[in-house]
Amino acid sequence: MAHINESYLELSGSYLFAHINRRVAAFRSVHPDADIIRLGIGDVTRPLVPAVIQAMHAAVEEMASAATFRGYGPEQGYEFLQEAILDGDYRPRNVKLDADEIFISDGSKCDVANIQEIFGADVKIAIADPVYPVYLDSNIMAGRSRNIVFLPGSAGNDFLPQIPEEKVDLIYLCSPNNPTGSVLDRAALTRWVEYARENRAIILFDSAYSAYIRDETLPRSIYEIPGAREVAIEFKSFSKSASFTGVRCAYTIIPKELNGFDGNGNPHSLHTLWNRRQTTKFNGTSYIVQRAAEAACRGEGRLQNQAVVDYYMGNADIIRTGLERAGHTVYGGKNAPYIWWKLPSGLDSMKFFDTLLEKCRVVGTPGVGFGSCGEGYFRLTAFGDRERTREAVERIVAAGW
Ligand code: MLT
Repeated sequence: MAHINESYLELSGSYLFAHINRRVAAFRSVHPDADIIRLGIGDVTRPLVPAVIQAMHAAVEEMASAATFRGYGPEQGYEFLQEAILDGDYRPRNVKLDADEIFISDGSKCDVANIQEIFGADVKIAIADPVYPVYLDSNIMAGRSRNIVFLPGSAGNDFLPQIPEEKVDLIYLCSPNNPTGSVLDRAALTRWVEYARENRAIILFDSAYSAYIRDETLPRSIYEIPGAREVAIEFKSFSKSASFTGVRCAYTIIPKELNGFDGNGNPHSLHTLWNRRQTTKFNGTSYIVQRAAEAACRGEGRLQNQAVVDYYMGNADIIRTGLERAGHTVYGGKNAPYIWWKLPSGLDSMKFFDTLLEKCRVVGTPGVGFGSCGEGYFRLTAFGDRERTREAVERIVAAGW
């Protein structure tokens, strides 16, 4: 008999955004002509920038000739991209990393979901609430549903995860946070790094939205914090910083001095374990995509993408100020592309999803989808088209909640 992994039965019925898509499709089947504005899933809408397109075309041409054609590449990614990432994101901030500490992949979602494989089944895991649901779901799948320590976020603690009383071994930090838009400052991140050092814990730092940080005093990488190399893995993505949600490219950094421990307390290199995992289960990101990502890191490509990020942050301003002027309480949207809207008191976020769609033809994401502490809140994304975003806000304000 083919037994299933029964941990899957402990998951909620469907993945958050699959659930949302189904509800929108159901609505559309009843209202085929409805003019729906989608501010739900954080998917980018601006096209790839010219420098990236040019690099992709050039890479396609290389693939057309036997002399420059590429087959399997290194599972860890090409050095040209690792170097470009260092030039773009790390050297300007005086963060020292070796190129081969960067593992290129086809997305941060896969990396943050897969990284738990290299840790023991019994590790205690701290996960913020609310937060990107993949951390929790992937650990439930791996049989760790009883090993989770939630770090409750609320307006009272600025939606920032606080160090728990119970000792934990793995800590997922998402900064800027999806969905609340809160960002861990240097002092808060330093406290986490110190905690991890004292407790032989590892921080899994998801910084997929770091390109949206506008406050220059805020850290964009955990490696800006002294000592972080010995306790942190960092995940970054080209999805939201370079319009790559459909192109697929991201990277995970594992410094070579970062160790996990066996049952006898002996240290083992996590870089080695992840490399073993990737070389066995992953065949690398496509050459064309890596050339495109390289172009996004430096020079014109970087500037062009910065303009796209600014465009989305203009949308964030429109949503934030529009709702505030109408008397609503909102968080985020200043250093992140998400606006975290406190629903008028007593409104259930799942029910509000339907009401908003029905009344305003606007799609958002119910806060409870990011954890129980998200109940009573609603996430709107700034990744839409400017005029449509403006219109969505007008519709919401006109609805008069
Ligand atoms: C979101 O809407 O939270 C993100 O788009 C999900 C993701 O990046 O996978």
